[in-house]
Amino acid sequence: MSGHEKVEKNVGLLIVLVVLVISVGGLVEIVPLFFQKSTTEAVAGLKPYGALALEGRDIYVREGCYNCHSQMIRPFRAETERYGHYSVAGEFVYDRPFQWGSKRTGPDLHRVGGRYSDEWHRVHLINPRDVVPESIMPGYPWLATTRLDPGLIRKKFEVLRTLGHPYSDEDIKNAPAELDGKTEMDAMIAYLQGMGTAIAVRR
Ligand code: HEC
Repeated sequence: MSGHEKVEKNVGLLIVLVVLVISVGGLVEIVPLFFQKSTTEAVAGLKPYGALALEGRDIYVREGCYNCHSQMIRPFRAETERYGHYSVAGEFVYDRPFQWGSKRTGPDLHRVGGRYSDEWHRVHLINPRDVVPESIMPGYPWLATTRLDPGLIRKKFEVLRTLGHPYSDEDIKNAPAELDGKTEMDAMIAYLQGMGTAIAVRR
């Protein structure tokens, strides 16, 4: 029996070899990305999240906004015409975990920063129908009435610093003061307004 015939007639061996081939192929594709500059280094101008925006990001995750919104503009004309410059890997190095998403019940949000006024967002988040009559997005009125809890922000900054986000001792010390008297709405708007603004955007 030739070697090839042996492999074809032995299902167990075939499975092992197939898994081996796929693993090597996968590793060859994935591992270089861990070391490539364009995927691991921040684009020029990208800053780690400030205290208010970081809280906003956590509320975005808590409320499940990612179930309807992606944050990943693909490099196709239909997308760049609508949303602006396509997303590049270096814009996401301070996002843990990424909020790329894959479901677009609503529009992509990656370049929403600066597109509307703070007041527009406030009204929209309380009741989307007040500014977009046909909207099917749910309202989030409690964001406007819930005060932020500044108790964990120092810890969050410290953990992120361990992972390589460049927060200074000063940043960590001042973080709770930035949340003082602010609501979850303020945090969400700070997060949305900063989104995708690190690189020059054609609108
Ligand atoms: C059930 C799906 C759904 C969920 C959940 C949802 N949205 Fe939306 N969102 C939409 C739809 C649909 C639109 C488009 C209509 C509109 O502007 O209201 C939209 C629009 C938006 C816009 C305006 C985008 C633009 O470019 O015009 C923003 C900002 C936004 N959503 C933020 C959020 C945030 C923040 C959350 C979580 C607190 C959230 N959305 C949760 C469906 C959703």
